[in-house]
This record gives sequence, structure tokens and C-alpha cells, in this order.
Amino acid sequence: MIEKWSDFGTSIFSLMTAAANRSGAINLAQGFPNFDGPQIIKDAAIRAINGSWNQYAPSIGLEELRQLIQKRYQITGNLHFDHNKEITVFSGATEALFCTFLALFKEHDEIITFSPYFDCYPAGAYAARAKLIDVPLDPKTWTFSESILVSKINPQTKAILVNTPHNPTGRVFDRSEMEMIAKIAQKYDLLVITDEVYEELIYDGLDFVRMATLPGMKDRTITISSTAKTFSLTGWKIGYICAPVRFTNEIRAVHQFTVFCSSTPLQAGICEALKMGTEYYETFRHEYTQRRDLLHNSLTDLGFKIKKSEGTYFLVADYSHVSDLPDLEFALWLTETWKVAVIPTSVFYNDQIAAQKNLKQVRFAFCKDFKTLEAGIENLRKLCTHAK
Ligand SMILES: Cc1ncc(COP(=O)(O)O)c(C=O)c1O
Repeated sequence: MIEKWSDFGTSIFSLMTAAANRSGAINLAQGFPNFDGPQIIKDAAIRAINGSWNQYAPSIGLEELRQLIQKRYQITGNLHFDHNKEITVFSGATEALFCTFLALFKEHDEIITFSPYFDCYPAGAYAARAKLIDVPLDPKTWTFSESILVSKINPQTKAILVNTPHNPTGRVFDRSEMEMIAKIAQKYDLLVITDEVYEELIYDGLDFVRMATLPGMKDRTITISSTAKTFSLTGWKIGYICAPVRFTNEIRAVHQFTVFCSSTPLQAGICEALKMGTEYYETFRHEYTQRRDLLHNSLTDLGFKIKKSEGTYFLVADYSHVSDLPDLEFALWLTETWKVAVIPTSVFYNDQIAAQKNLKQVRFAFCKDFKTLEAGIENLRKLCTHAK
């Protein structure tokens, strides 16, 4: 039960990274690459710093950046957003989500999302004194039931929050699932917030269905994304929201009193990123497919049960063949004894559900260079040989 902010405790990502550093473990826990994004983007930010782009940016973001974001949605979704009225730059998707919760919801409002879910969603709901309501994804297929989703709707329900590609499961919701959510949102007059930060990490030629592209949805969808994952620059924290004017105006009002604006030279650097052509995105996806395959195949050979990741840079593995420990204890033991840090998946559920499920699943991040992935796999091999 959360009664004050500190009840959220320290984020599991910080805890597991600290445990990995303490034990000298391979960090397959927190979702940040152990390599940097392209040099030309870094050079552009350095040029901006040396060229006096060091004062406050406009609160809504540099105009060139908003124009480039507009262009990207035009290319990838045939979607048109007005860069002055409907596109806003934030300090990462985290701030974008937080401002959205604060701007659009109030006490007793309910926001439905699919569990497991990213850990900042409950914090956003708490900030607005609203309630986050879970619809569970099936742990074998990571799909959801329409009837359960509909059963959670009541007069307090204001929105459905959809994260696709989905952290931590690696699921990419397919067209029929997205259409189902769209149909329900229209029938019950709900907003849809989409968290698309892994939009460029989709494997095996799967379709990415943007909610805002579905008939009747653009006017009720708040599309949130970030440049963190796509350009391997998670520390820059440049994210954005595309939303209809009536929502944008409210969300911008919160943003101007939280950070006012995001870092000016880093926004200038990201302009360079968004000028890159299709080859960048193809190479990026190709390299990540290889990383996913390496980790997936190796873990499967070692007896872990996994539903293949369709997107993101995560996969969830069932470890019940090597340990009976609850997932948090297992993750710490794995880090300290076998030198591989992972994230226990119970942190992506509310407490009650996690306790009921007695989960034996952990999340692996494969946003690491091949040498690091191989070293992690080698350590896991030792564990599995020992457990036999
Ligand atoms: C699903 C999801 N949404 C949002 C974020 C936050 O993105 P940013 O780093 O741009 O704040 C993350 C980062 O891990 C994420 O996994």
C-alpha cells in the first residue's frame, strides 16, 4: 500500500545495477546499452554546446526537432501532427508520462493497463491520485482477454494505457488486439495513451500498429515515445508526445512547471539523429535481432522457458528448472553467486498479483555488446551445469 512517495522505495533498476557493480556481475538487468549511439549525434550536441546553444529552449521543444518528429510520423505511420500545436518535447518518456497523468487525470479516475507493466505507471497514477487498474497478460502467450478488459471498465475509467512493443515481455500487440482496444475505447469513450519507446525494435518483420493510425483514434490517442532506445542515448532523456490540441495544451501546462524545457544542446544533437535515413534503422534492427537470437537460443538450450521476444530489448525467462527461490531472491543470488544481474518480474506487477502468482520469471536485457552477452551466457551455463 502506497501512502507516501518513499513507499515506492528505490527503483529495482537502480538496486540491481548497484548489486551488479558490487558483485562484479554482468549487468543484463537495467535497460541501457553498454555502447553509445552514433558519433555524428554526439558531435552535433558538442557543436551545439560550443555554438552557444546553452540557454533555455522553448518550453515545447526546439522548432527544428518538432518538425523532424513530425516528418518521422509522416514516414512511419502516414500520420500528420501539427508541430506547433500537437508535438511537444519532454525530458524522456518518463517525464512525458508523468505530465500526462498529472494533466489529464484526477482523484478516483481509473486508468487501465496491462500487467506486467513499466514501473513508472503506478507512480504517475499516484501523482494524480488516480488508480491504475490491471488487465493481466497470459504469462505463456502475453496476450489479454477482451472480456477481462471490458469487465474492468466502469464510470470512473478514463483511459487505457498501452505499451507496445511491451516492456518487460517483448510482446508486440498485433493488429487485431490494437483494433480491439480501439473499438472498446470508442464504445466507452476512453482515451488511449500509447507508450511506443521501443517502436524501432521490432523483429521478424512484424507489423507495428500505431493506435493513432486506426480509424477514429487519432482524436483520442496520446502517443508517447523517446529517442533513448532508438539512438542508444538513454542518458540524454529526450522524449516527446504527439496528441490532439486539447490534451497537448493541458500536458504542456504541467511540463512548463516541472522542467520547463529539456536540455537545449541535447535537443540539437537529437535533430541530427532524426535526419538519419532508413539504413540506420535497418542496421539497428538487424544487430538487435542477432543479440536477441543469441540470448534466446542460448537460454533455451540451457533449459529456460521463454516466449520469443517480438520487440524491445528484453526477454522474460522462466527459471524453475534451476531454482525454487522467489524471483527477487533468485535475481540477487544469480547476481552475487553466478555473476549475472537480471530483473525479477514481480516488480512489474502490483503486490497482490505478484504474491498470488509465485512467479519464477526474470527479465534479461540484451542491449549489450556481443562479448558481454556471451560472458553472461557462460556464467549461466555454469549455473545450469551446477544445478543438474
Ligand atoms: C516502457 C517504457 N516506457 C518509458 C520508458 C522511459 O523512457 P525514457 O528513458 O525516455 O524516459 C522506458 C525506459 O526504460 C520504458 O521501458
